[in-house]
Amino acid sequence: MAAGGANAARHVAIIMDGNGRWAKKRALPRALGHKRGVEAVRTLVRSLEDTEIECLTLYAFSSENWKRPEDEVDDLMNLMRSFIKSDLPEFIENGVRLEIVGDWQALAPDIVEMLEDALHRTAGGKRTVAVALNYGSQQEIARAAQLAANEGPVTVDAIERHLHTVDLPPLDLLIRTSGEVRLSNFLLWQAAYAEMLFLDVLWPDFTPDHLKDALARFASRERRYGGR
Ligand code: FPP
Repeated sequence: MAAGGANAARHVAIIMDGNGRWAKKRALPRALGHKRGVEAVRTLVRSLEDTEIECLTLYAFSSENWKRPEDEVDDLMNLMRSFIKSDLPEFIENGVRLEIVGDWQALAPDIVEMLEDALHRTAGGKRTVAVALNYGSQQEIARAAQLAANEGPVTVDAIERHLHTVDLPPLDLLIRTSGEVRLSNFLLWQAAYAEMLFLDVLWPDFTPDHLKDALARFASRERRYGGR
């Protein structure tokens, strides 16, 4: 178990950026960068057992990613299909509960079906891996505000009850790889008090040691939530 105690991060989210640059640096097709990105996900999920993380949220496909060329979108969707197929048994065996955030019901019907099955079969897991699929934070907030308004006063609590992340712990730490310093429409509301780390490593090169180092840096930061 990693050191951390009271300062341990319960919920970590990652913007997995840099697959394309990883491939370009090696003169490889972008698809291979994404494939290696999935391998980094697999290794990281396996390593969660050595941490105190209760929930890991991964930005796999944004609502803006549809603007990419059709064959890249197809590659990403196919990677999602094969990832679920190959890794679901391991999720179940290791007590990993899958959660999906975003407008995932709008994905291809066979993916929706696979995801529904995976959600059902992992429901008893003790640790959560939440995958953001067809996710956009502004859309999520607008939808939550509308649903809250339909019910009564639009308060912070009322909005939170309608976010896709309602069942997840508060976000502690947000990591973005690849050196870019922006949130790209990811967890804008949830990041209100999260610590942020922007790392100069391309996603396929991200290892459990990078995560452990990020957790140690998180544990050493003092969070005041606006107080002093
Ligand atoms: C950003 O790299 C990455 C993505 C748009 C997709 C992230 C997806 C994966 C890592 C694979 C799918 C995940 C799961 C859970 C199966 P980029 O293409 O924007 O890289 P670049 O900025 O270097 O071009």
